[in-house]
Amino acid sequence: MPESYPMNGGDSTYSYTKNSYFQKTAINIAKSMIDEAIVDYLDIKEFSSESLNNNTFCIADLGCSVGPNTFNSMQNIIEAVQQKYQSQLGQIPDFQIFFNDHVSNDFNTLFSSLPPETERRYFAAGVPGSFHDRLFPNSSLHFVHSSYAIHWLSKLPEELLDENSPAWNRGRIQYCKAYAAQFAKDTARFLDARAKEIMVGGMLVLIMPSIPNNVPHSMFDLLGSSFMDLAKEELISEAQVDSFNLPLYAASPKEMTELINQNGFFSIVRMELNNLFSCIDSQTTGKSCTMHLRAALEGIIVKHFGSKVIDEVFHRLYEKTQEFSERLESSYKEGTQLVLVLKRKLK
Ligand SMILES: C[S@@+](CC[C@H](N)C(=O)[O-])C[C@H]1O[C@@H](n2cnc3c(N)ncnc32)[C@H](O)[C@@H]1O
Repeated sequence: MPESYPMNGGDSTYSYTKNSYFQKTAINIAKSMIDEAIVDYLDIKEFSSESLNNNTFCIADLGCSVGPNTFNSMQNIIEAVQQKYQSQLGQIPDFQIFFNDHVSNDFNTLFSSLPPETERRYFAAGVPGSFHDRLFPNSSLHFVHSSYAIHWLSKLPEELLDENSPAWNRGRIQYCKAYAAQFAKDTARFLDARAKEIMVGGMLVLIMPSIPNNVPHSMFDLLGSSFMDLAKEELISEAQVDSFNLPLYAASPKEMTELINQNGFFSIVRMELNNLFSCIDSQTTGKSCTMHLRAALEGIIVKHFGSKVIDEVFHRLYEKTQEFSERLESSYKEGTQLVLVLKRKLK
């Protein structure tokens, strides 16, 4: 079983369902870009001749979590594809949506919050498993979407777990060169699998956290220093902080371009770095950033430090977001969200 760190399930205060506002904003920012790319680049005439088996257009959302964002993204894509079919071919296909996530994802919450059948213009299916491996048959998908998911590494770089290695991450919880290498390996596997599953002319949309040019990972630095504060007060040990690492990596546009070119099966039709925070009320940024990180990271933190310190960690983090709000805002100005629209080409 690959390592997995599910978002908080259910619908309580710290659930992902109630705290995925950033991703929702991200999806809204990406919407017009995806709509335009569907109008300009999706080859529906090619699909309509041979590959649209049983008149069904197949879409997958990889790393869908528990909703509701996945439902909005799928609805947006379907509306844009439908319009294109209607205007070019005068008919619309059936839509099949595959919701993918790790087996440990709370699929019950996902399925029980699906839009009602009267509003849902698609057939829904769950696909459990890691998107770093194959999930679908050859050339069976027309459109693949993945938002805020491929920055999760398949595992921590091994060097990081060895106290004698130079990569041992003393006092920090996230960044080190070993992460870049692990991300490159994971993304190569991800793109290899998708190149087999997406038919020629099909699309792959990736929305992910990114960094412009070596901008420090400020929220993670603040989280790291919250742990160090607790260690100084002996609520946790320094050794525990040293051996804790987050399996996340935010790649730059340059790194992504290189990985896509190395794979060779996709052309980049659109690529944009957006400033997500320009659309979020700065008064509430600290609070919502903290709630969001808790919904995403509580599971992995509790696994390492136990549940007793969890409220205190996030209370300290919130206080730090207030103390360093200017620094946070300026570090995000250059843009921290990358949207990539790729098209599957013949190699
Ligand atoms: C932050 S959530 C994003 C959810 C949703 N796409 C959104 O934009 O709101 C990231 C999701 O990616 C999933 N994920 C991470 N690595 C994965 C992998 N290798 N295979 C499948 N899902 C993965 C996590 O389990 C989690 O549910």
